[in-house]
Amino acid sequence: MLKKVTVSTLAKRRAAGEKLVMSTAYDAVEARLCAVAGIDFLLVGDSVGMTHLGYASTLPVTMEDMLRHTAAVRRGAPEAFVVFDMPFMSYQESEALALHNAGLALKTVGADAVKLEGGAECAPLVRRMTDAGIPVMAHVGLMPQHVQVAGGYKVVGRDEDSAERVLADALAMQEAGAFAVVLECVPETLARRVTETVDIATIGIGSGRECSGQVQVICDLLGLSEFTPRHAKRYLEGGSLIAAALKQYADEVREGSFPAPENSFR
Ligand code: KIV
Repeated sequence: MLKKVTVSTLAKRRAAGEKLVMSTAYDAVEARLCAVAGIDFLLVGDSVGMTHLGYASTLPVTMEDMLRHTAAVRRGAPEAFVVFDMPFMSYQESEALALHNAGLALKTVGADAVKLEGGAECAPLVRRMTDAGIPVMAHVGLMPQHVQVAGGYKVVGRDEDSAERVLADALAMQEAGAFAVVLECVPETLARRVTETVDIATIGIGSGRECSGQVQVICDLLGLSEFTPRHAKRYLEGGSLIAAALKQYADEVREGSFPAPENSFR
């Protein structure tokens, strides 16, 4: 019998002083590998648009894309805590649409929580969601869905005004009922300040060492991305290893050494 990971598991581990470990996963294979490695907080990020769907940003990702990938992750890791990343324009248009879409994530594909990008302006929506029984992970600092307005992917919170805004956004999300907040690409000193100020878990990406936990994109961890952001570390040169294996397969078929007798039926 698998023990299900829940928001209480997250709270208990944080209270015990354990660093929280989260990775993105986009399909059943990645989800299983993460679970076997003991990474049981999984984010089905809208980064799937760039990592698996060939888009240049997260903006084209749809609810249908996210539902299909989340269902696969759930099948791969039934015990994991799976967070569904609300894609661009699935929650900005109206509260009714946002609640409907978040509900689909929990009801139809087994997500445990949703994540949405936004600060104080999203607090009323997050309150409605949590009141309705939908656990919400907030996401402040660099918000990739705002790339067109921000004019690129930049560190947020280097000056006093924007640092205060990041802190206020994290506090507003906590007040609204979010159980955790992703801090993306904020300076380490600001991440420490937010972590010391809020009572919920802070999950950093590109925000230094002081957060309650870390999240990374699995393709960066495994060396499958062409570009690796400065904040990421490649634990494997997976891209070159896989390409070499595939080349060996192609060479062996062409020269006739695969399939061998042991790969054939009599
Ligand atoms: O989509 C994603 O992978 C994310 C992480 C960068 C936190 O939102």
